[in-house]
Amino acid sequence: MAYRWKNTLKESDVTCEAAFLNRRQLMAGFAGSIVAGGVGGQALAMGPWKGEGLGEPNSWDDITSYNNFYEFGTGKGDPVKYAHMLTTAPWSVKIDGLVDNPGDYAFEDIMSKMTIEERIYRFRCVERWAMIVPWNGFELADLLELAGVQSNAKYVSFETALRPDEMPGVRQPVIEWPYVEGLRLDEAMHPLTFVATGIYGKDIPNQNGAPLRLVVPWKYGYKSIKSIVRITLTEDEPPTAWNKYSAREYGFYSNVNPNRSHPRWSQEYEQLLGQGLFAEKTPTLMFNGYEEEVASLYEGMDLLEHH
Ligand code: MTE
Repeated sequence: MAYRWKNTLKESDVTCEAAFLNRRQLMAGFAGSIVAGGVGGQALAMGPWKGEGLGEPNSWDDITSYNNFYEFGTGKGDPVKYAHMLTTAPWSVKIDGLVDNPGDYAFEDIMSKMTIEERIYRFRCVERWAMIVPWNGFELADLLELAGVQSNAKYVSFETALRPDEMPGVRQPVIEWPYVEGLRLDEAMHPLTFVATGIYGKDIPNQNGAPLRLVVPWKYGYKSIKSIVRITLTEDEPPTAWNKYSAREYGFYSNVNPNRSHPRWSQEYEQLLGQGLFAEKTPTLMFNGYEEEVASLYEGMDLLEHH
C-alpha cells in the first residue's frame, strides 16, 4: 500500500550503498520492501504497525515544533529553540546490567546492525494532546537481543544524556536529572516497542530526542524517553523520572487509560495536534488504541491500582 508521505526519493535512487539515506534513515518505501520480503512481512505491512485506520499523520511542523523535552526548558517551544545545542555525534549507548555483552555501543554500529523501518503510531501525551507520527527506527527487542539479555533480567531502565553545558533546562531542578524511565522486560520486548531514529524518513531532530529515543505507543508520552545514553537490564523495577516527582500522579506503568483520571484532570478525551483550539475532542482509547496487541501483558492486573 502506497502512502503519499512515505517517499521523498525515487525508487531508482535506491542502491544498497544508499541504505542510509538522509544520513541514516532508510527510505521508508525501501525499508518496507525489505521487511515485506522477510518472514512475517505481511503482518508488518498492515495493521497497527503501519497506522492503518489512523488517518493522515501530523505534519512535520506539528511533530517537531510542539515538544516536551524539559532538559531544554518547560515551554512547548523551548526544545525547538534550544535543542540544537545538543551534540549528537559521536554518540554511544552504554548497555549494561544483566546482559551477556555489556559495553558502549556506538550509534553508527547500532544502525548498521538494525533493520530500519517505518512505523506510523498514535502518540498520546499525559497532558491530553495527541498526534500521529511516521517514525523510522527499529524494534527495541532487536537491540536487546544484540546485547544478550540474561535469564534473571526482569526490567529495562533507560537514561537520557545529562549535559548542563548543552541543556539549559537542567540548571533548574524541575525534575531530578538525569531523566530516567523503565519498562518491564516483556513490555520492552513487545514488537510495538520501538527505538526511533527518524521521522518522515529524515534523521530525528534534536527536539524529538536525537539520535535515538524510545517510542512506546500504548503508554503516555513521558515513558518515551529521549536522547538515550544508557540502557540497563535489572532484576528490580527501576525508578522513573515522573514517578519520583509524584507517584500518585505518574505510575510506573502509565498505560493510556480513559478510565483513570490524572488526579488533576480527566483522561476521557484527547486533542489531536494541528486541528485547532476549537476542534472536537475525541475519546481516549484504552491502551491508546493498541488494546488488541498489548492487553495480554496486563492480564489479571488491576490497572487502576497499577497505573
Ligand atoms: N525525554 C526526556 N529526556 N525529557 C523529557 O522532558 N518528555 C516526555 C517524553 N520524553 C521528555 C522525554 C514527554 S512528557 C513527552 S509527551 C514526549 O517525550 C514528547 O515527545 P515529542 O516532543 O517528540 O512529542
